Amino acid sequence: MQKKCRIGVLGSGKGSNMVAIADAAADPTCPYEVAVVLSDVPNAGILDHARARRVAAMHVPPGKFRTKLDEEAEQAYITTLREARVDYIALAGFMRILKGEFLRAFPHKVVNIHPSLLPSFPGLEAWKQALDYGVKFTGCTVHFVDQGIDTGPIIAQQTVPVLDEDTAATLHARIQEAERVLYPNALRRLCSGELEVVGRRCVAAQ
Ligand code: GRF
Repeated sequence: MQKKCRIGVLGSGKGSNMVAIADAAADPTCPYEVAVVLSDVPNAGILDHARARRVAAMHVPPGKFRTKLDEEAEQAYITTLREARVDYIALAGFMRILKGEFLRAFPHKVVNIHPSLLPSFPGLEAWKQALDYGVKFTGCTVHFVDQGIDTGPIIAQQTVPVLDEDTAATLHARIQEAERVLYPNALRRLCSGELEVVGRRCVAAQ
């Protein structure tokens, strides 16, 4: 079998996506392994879940800003991920915008999961935006990260129905259930070399 892709996961929250990604990697046929998990939040659940799975887990302080990494922190993230020899970086609820230096350090290697069918409802609380708008279907999207907010080439999407009786919480839970299937599958396809990006389109590799 080919050498496995090494994935670095970045998250700020409870880590349900990281758990799904790491648990899928337990399958010997999985083309990736989780090399390291980093969080900007010292007591984030994602770090505990990683440690429980014997995955290296580290709190890396984000620096002085609230919504992004400061210059020093950005370098610390880059160095830690390079030392872990990651091939891809999977954002899983990482609540800080990554731009400039970071993306240049890992070109076309940073992916994210967003809880809507992009390009609808980018930004925060996308499930609530969908509910308030009144769409009948929403979903989740795995995409490459570029300089914009939730704008990079789309790797995979899954639809989820919006039910009349939904609250923000029930809709969010249904989307997260879909995320836990979509994200590991998208990473599998990416790491097995099945996909290539042509312009904005991520398609089956020729
Ligand atoms: C997910 O719902 C994802 O869509 C968003 O952040 C959330 C993270 O949840 N980007 P978890 O920490 O993976 O449970």
